[in-house]
Amino acid sequence: MKIAVIGWGSVGNAAILGLRPHHEVVGYDIDGRGFWEDVVHSEVALVCVQTDATADEDLDMSNIFQVSSRLADDNFRGLVIIKSTLRPGTMEELEVLHPNIRFVYMPEFLREKDAVEWFANPDRIVASGHTKNVDVAFDCFSWVPKETPRIRMKHLEAELGKLAHNAYIATKVTFTCEIERICHSKGANPIPVMETVWTDRRVSNPAHLTPGLGGFDGKCVPKDTLALATVDKDPDSLLKILHSRGSKGEVMKREGEKSRGEGSNGNSSAAGLFFICLCGVFYFLAMVGLVALSDGFFNEEEMVPPVHKIWDGGELPPAGSFIFFEDVHSSNTQTRTYSSTTCATDFGSDRESCHTQTWDVTYLVITVGSEQIYAEFEDLAWGVRECMLGTCDLLGMMESNGVFVVFDGR
Ligand SMILES: NC(=O)c1ccc[n+]([C@@H]2O[C@H](COP(=O)([O-])OP(=O)(O)OC[C@H]3O[C@@H](n4cnc5c(N)ncnc54)[C@H](O)[C@@H]3O)[C@@H](O)[C@H]2O)c1
Repeated sequence: MKIAVIGWGSVGNAAILGLRPHHEVVGYDIDGRGFWEDVVHSEVALVCVQTDATADEDLDMSNIFQVSSRLADDNFRGLVIIKSTLRPGTMEELEVLHPNIRFVYMPEFLREKDAVEWFANPDRIVASGHTKNVDVAFDCFSWVPKETPRIRMKHLEAELGKLAHNAYIATKVTFTCEIERICHSKGANPIPVMETVWTDRRVSNPAHLTPGLGGFDGKCVPKDTLALATVDKDPDSLLKILHSRGSKGEVMKREGEKSRGEGSNGNSSAAGLFFICLCGVFYFLAMVGLVALSDGFFNEEEMVPPVHKIWDGGELPPAGSFIFFEDVHSSNTQTRTYSSTTCATDFGSDRESCHTQTWDVTYLVITVGSEQIYAEFEDLAWGVRECMLGTCDLLGMMESNGVFVVFDGR
């Protein structure tokens, strides 16, 4: 297929490089790169122009409207796939303004740092528009494995979904910052506190991201959340806002409805809802521990292990340290064989018999500055993919045998 990429910035450049092995691709930018003539004669135009924030906290759609008008004026007959992030409602406006243009919205979720890799290997492809047009848009990405979800939805849903995804990231990060702030105000180390959160299996599944289940509820989650919010002296505390917005009672009051899932006519049984609520907003599990511990505990400085938030070269931190390595790269793996011998005495014969077990552990050899460390991953395939193809950020703990046990990576 002949594809033209309009807007040769971060996303456009990743699109050009990601699409080129599979299609005939041309790039065009208003700054002088490429030729508009090539765009007009393409089968697909992928719009990647910037949609920056405006002074009144909206998104500036002027580049999107400008490019669309230009395509319409030149009777563009191909498919226009908008990749830029949009103000909700924009796709509908475009379809009204340019009824002869076939539009699809396909928001982009790449990470700027590894833009090409993420463009070429997306976690999912979201698209909105008429079925046949979306089929063509998906065909442009036919190299993406079949297992990768292709999700069809309405324009407004795709527009909101793109914004919601970033808002969720902002919420997670804000939550972490808030917990970090509270920990520091109490003299506690935030790393083990957050480790208490991220090691929970509910953090990495969609249970608490599923809409329609109402606010959080149960015996402990509301009271403990409120208790931690009370510990927090900041009047603008995120926790206070979460509590006043997210508890089941507040959600019901706001929506002016009876409890969803309660009684006999809901799809989910009361027991099911109770379970989900008890499982709770996963974040708050960490808070239970926090509230249960007294001020005295937090004030004991020796309880706080050494933290090297970002390793900045020089001698590696000592064993037992939590470290955050940024932008590390790996070029190979190494397998080490370990053995352990257990002996038992047979009291009848008074003889000792020993049994030796051996096992292999494969590490990713990571280069950090001038040092090489051996990173142990729970999911080695992830480490190989992320750290060998590009660079990765890793959080983990140094062990005494020089091994770095990875807790989390991105
Ligand atoms: N950068 C990211 O990590 C990222 C990730 C996902 C989505 N997005 C979204 O993708 C869009 C593009 O982001 P970006 O970071 O690539 O922007 P960018 O500023 O890096 O690049 C945009 C390019 O578009 C060009 N351009 C502007 N108007 C044009 C026009 N009328 N005709 C031709 N070219 C034009 C500009 O000259 C610029 O080179 C935005 O909506 C952004 O929100 C960005």
